[in-house]
Amino acid sequence: MFINTPPMGWNSWNTFAEQINEKLVMETADFIVENGYKDCGYEYVIIDDCWSLHDRNADGEIVPDPEKFPHGMKYLADYIHSKGLKFGMYSCAGPLTCAGYPGSYDHEFVDAKCFARWGVDYLKYDYCFHPESTQGHYLYKRMAIALANSGRDIVLAACSWGAENTKTWIKETGADTFRSTGDIVDSWESIKDLCVSQMKVAEYNGRGCFNDMDMLVVGMNGKGHVGLTGCTTEEYKTHFAFWALMGSPLIIGCDLRNVDQTAHDILKNKMLIAIDQDAAYRQPFFINWARRENTHRVGDQPLLEYYPTENPIMARILSNGDVAIGAFNFSDQRRTFSAQLDSLGLGECTGKTLELTDVWTGEKQIVPHSTITVNLDAHQCTVYRASVVDK
Ligand code: GLA
Repeated sequence: MFINTPPMGWNSWNTFAEQINEKLVMETADFIVENGYKDCGYEYVIIDDCWSLHDRNADGEIVPDPEKFPHGMKYLADYIHSKGLKFGMYSCAGPLTCAGYPGSYDHEFVDAKCFARWGVDYLKYDYCFHPESTQGHYLYKRMAIALANSGRDIVLAACSWGAENTKTWIKETGADTFRSTGDIVDSWESIKDLCVSQMKVAEYNGRGCFNDMDMLVVGMNGKGHVGLTGCTTEEYKTHFAFWALMGSPLIIGCDLRNVDQTAHDILKNKMLIAIDQDAAYRQPFFINWARRENTHRVGDQPLLEYYPTENPIMARILSNGDVAIGAFNFSDQRRTFSAQLDSLGLGECTGKTLELTDVWTGEKQIVPHSTITVNLDAHQCTVYRASVVDK
């Protein structure tokens, strides 16, 4: 299936892992609708690993665990659809899922039919336990073809964590999103590592198959399955803003029913969501580059590579001609960031400047002297939506 913008929704894994059940999923669907999340664009309610029994039935189908899901998956899908939301499930390209439940290897067509019958709209497809003799591009193609022949439109969210250089072959498989990272945990180190790693693969992102930076940890505050140290409010803001500027899927991972207002405010930041979901979906680019010598040589010359610095100023040109600009301080010290308008093509000769709207405070300012300057505390970010105005 082809989707125009990165999916937004909620997934059970980060907080609940094996502790999932029908009640939790239905209550979360209710919460999404009743508390303005659906209006913000969050629409997929996704059950991750651990939803089934360990054995398939006589027809070779995976059986939902009757203790966790007493009315079965069709009932749950119907409930979620009745709320105007979409239903997501999980399987794996190997014979077992990462948590050891049945995976879809060699059962792709049976499982795809079953998911379609239940009313599934989105399938997260993991990569544990795949036979060493087969390759990822082959297994993801097989499930994509099975889904496309299932009789229902089902988004395929590949989850091979970048293995086997996923980015170079995933677009040809028919997957709609691909996990370009290892698993996130609820700590600043994890967020920083994922952000820095993704700057080098930003150019693979785009319509056709979106880079998925993994589920959000905003609001977990150290609780739940991947809850670790937790993060500060500034760190959660940086996390959410980076995902939005990169155009990653925004899949909430906290227990929405029990988070504080600060988390709600971050997850519902409409300006950041609009940047993430911008209709043009242009690739982000980096304004500050660092030149590094690669160890490889071309003849006797070092091969030069250009990477964003570890503290990037990142931008994205939006569909209405505005520009999203974000400065991210991943370092542990307070730092000053500055960018010339020239680096966006808006040199002196154009007679233009930018009006900046801060996505967190809504404050507006005109860029003075063609230079945007911000001072950021450790782990902090600033993001502007910038409109072009006459000088
Ligand atoms: C892998 C995935 C996670 C989660 C677990 C479930 O680790 O990357 O996102 O789905 O499996 O077991």
